[in-house]
Amino acid sequence: MYILRALKKTLFISSVSVLLFTLQTSSQTRKEYLLQDNWKFTKGDPANAANPEFNAKAWENISIPHDWAIKGPFDGNNDVQYVQVIENLEKTMHKKLGRTGGLPFIGTAWYRRNLSASYFKAGQRAVLLFDGAMSYPKVFVNGKEAGHWAYGYSSFSIDITSFLKPGEDNSLAVRLENLPEASRWYPGAGLYRNVHLIVTDDVHIPVWGTYVTTPVINDAFAKVNIKTKVESSTAALAGLKLVTDIKDASGKIVSTMSSVLAETDQSQFEQQLIVKTPALWSPETPVLYTAVSRLYAGNDLKDQYETTFGFRTIKFEPVKGFSLNGKYRKFKGVCNHHDLGPLGAAMNVSALRRQLTILKDMGCDAIRTSHNMPAPELVKLCDEMGFMVMIESFDEWKTPKVKNGYHVLFDEWAEKDIVNMVHRDRNNPSVIMWSIGNEVRDQDAVNGNKLITFLQDICHREDPTRQVTMGMNHYDNVMNNNFASAVDIPGFNYKPNLYESANTRLPQGFLLGTETVSTVSSRGVYKFPVAFAAMKLYPDRQSSSYDFEFCEWSQVPDDEFAKQDSLEFVTGEFVWTGFDYLGEPTPYDEVWPSHSSYFGILDLAGLPKDRYYLYRSKWNTEKPTLHILPHWTFPGREGQVTPVFAYTSYPSAELFINGKSMGRLSKNKSSNTSKYRLMWKDVKYEAGTIKVIAYDQNGKAAAEETVHTAGKPDHLVLEADRRELTADGRDLSYITAKIVDKDGNLCPDAENELTFNVSGAGSYKVVANGDATSLEMFHLNHMKAFHGMLVVTVQSSLKAGELTLGVTGKKLKKNSLTIQTK
Ligand code: GAL
Repeated sequence: MYILRALKKTLFISSVSVLLFTLQTSSQTRKEYLLQDNWKFTKGDPANAANPEFNAKAWENISIPHDWAIKGPFDGNNDVQYVQVIENLEKTMHKKLGRTGGLPFIGTAWYRRNLSASYFKAGQRAVLLFDGAMSYPKVFVNGKEAGHWAYGYSSFSIDITSFLKPGEDNSLAVRLENLPEASRWYPGAGLYRNVHLIVTDDVHIPVWGTYVTTPVINDAFAKVNIKTKVESSTAALAGLKLVTDIKDASGKIVSTMSSVLAETDQSQFEQQLIVKTPALWSPETPVLYTAVSRLYAGNDLKDQYETTFGFRTIKFEPVKGFSLNGKYRKFKGVCNHHDLGPLGAAMNVSALRRQLTILKDMGCDAIRTSHNMPAPELVKLCDEMGFMVMIESFDEWKTPKVKNGYHVLFDEWAEKDIVNMVHRDRNNPSVIMWSIGNEVRDQDAVNGNKLITFLQDICHREDPTRQVTMGMNHYDNVMNNNFASAVDIPGFNYKPNLYESANTRLPQGFLLGTETVSTVSSRGVYKFPVAFAAMKLYPDRQSSSYDFEFCEWSQVPDDEFAKQDSLEFVTGEFVWTGFDYLGEPTPYDEVWPSHSSYFGILDLAGLPKDRYYLYRSKWNTEKPTLHILPHWTFPGREGQVTPVFAYTSYPSAELFINGKSMGRLSKNKSSNTSKYRLMWKDVKYEAGTIKVIAYDQNGKAAAEETVHTAGKPDHLVLEADRRELTADGRDLSYITAKIVDKDGNLCPDAENELTFNVSGAGSYKVVANGDATSLEMFHLNHMKAFHGMLVVTVQSSLKAGELTLGVTGKKLKKNSLTIQTK
């Protein structure tokens, strides 16, 4: 299937009060204001809060994206759930604490803001575009309800033209409400994504008004089909002219077409353009093109609209699986929830970019937006940085998992939510498939497969160029009731051992590991003896980083790798999860405190756990990996068995403890783990130095890694992911603080409390240490290190200059680090 995608221009511009985006021509036809600043906020539900005369002076001043619950405090009594999680193979009801993160996100809240008189003139059209609002948003303009939505993850737009008074200041108020027992993870709260005000001429291209496809792509040329909708409340549309330029990545116009709308075109232009020698989009070559659409009435430019898109082909086929641009490959993917750890659900582009940068280095090439629609900025970043995306819609259909879950909305909203999901992101080349659900319990319902057809057909109707998948977990049921055969791409969660049987029974001839692994671990924590264990609990509420611990329904990474490697028809995997997330602290979801997951390859602070290097050793085929674990500071373990593992891209390696060889090992087929890891299982601990020398295919020493037993905590090492920020009041730098001994060795058990102080051109934002059991709040300027480390986030201000972070800790030499902002 030949396909093209495009991406609607998403705006990342920010400023103090009003953000004005004007398109590249001198035309003043379309203006987009990113309504980020000058909001008033209150929790609760005051009477008349929508009234323009309401006095909101006492409300908090905030900017959006804003998550009203992330400042806590944590409390195990927030959103206690009594549930039987059948997905977790539970036989009875259980009391779950911290399932949604223990943060105070339940209840009602209001946001208010002025829309200044300068925004809007008589005869214009004004639309508010919400990228997501958590949840049940009701939007009031000048005291009247202008529109509403329900699902907190959906993007939606509201035409507010008739509610506005041209030439006057107008008031905007948004009421939001979060119900208890509505989620299985931390959903966040409030206007946690951007809100745009789009002002156009009455004759205009509506929100998500273009649909770009590439029906033909070959070396010589590509055909580009662009459907462009136009709207007007008063003018006749026939006779309007649309000029579309396609620009390549350097901004050069590579194709142009002009068309006039006929009466019979029914308010939609359809243009076919040719682009010669198209450069293809892929994760390795994320080349983008832009379609610039100019809409004229006579010689009057009425609107100008930009759509980013790319050229690429995708195909799923029996036996051989998935190919991109004609090359077979498997998804090396991760599932992620939408929260950004210590920032909560509040969208931030730098935070998203940092996550993707880390995943890229791991060799990851695909993201599943589990289990809901992502922020548009994530999709744009995936286009630009090169990630294939599975966009998912729902975690529930009609059968409940939680009391107030999506089932209460399904009948009224499912179609509208899917339509918006597809319309917003169908032009993005990174989007490879739609997912209509995750482990929905309708898998077991008599008419469950009718719902597949209902939702899948909506995706096909709105976007015939992509196939549809879903994460299924009730294997016997979905194989017996036609569920699995009805979906385009059969997606299985945690079923590597059933891939062969499924493929024999299903008509498609290929399948996908929509959700895999769910190994649990805590960064820097090593438990002994080292043994495979399901649902293993320890008194400290941590899991071992030897990567041998999993859940009753899940596996270790190696078991999935083995199937991915041996079965051609399996099109890849999406590991649960890339990053730890707030909520779902399995296996500790019945004890408190534990507020975040243990599943992440990276912890809640974004620090890699050992598992990161296991994936990197397999997925990053460009750069070699050699990582050894555990740390080597175990006072009291002298003489006890303390296994050493190497996660490496090299086939063999030799371990030395204090210079003595513990033998050379090669990856081998004796077990799944020994295929992917080198494990010296019987070595005994003695303080000193461990060294691993890795050998390449030819037996030549190729890399070396050393770990020393650490002495007493002495000083702090600070490492910033970025030393230069944009002075836009939003850009972030993440600084890892490590407690080290006098020789610079990480003190792997140090838990000194550190304090942060920011001066100059920026401010302190948050801190996280990756400890799921901590009750310390992210926004306060102090926190204990967890296993010797934590990550401080600082934010630029609008003034360019130097920002300095100082970090202090008792009995530690203090340190500071300076960042330039421009
Ligand atoms: C799956 C589910 C995910 C998460 C995961 C934990 O069943 O789809 O949302 O709960 O288990 O292993």
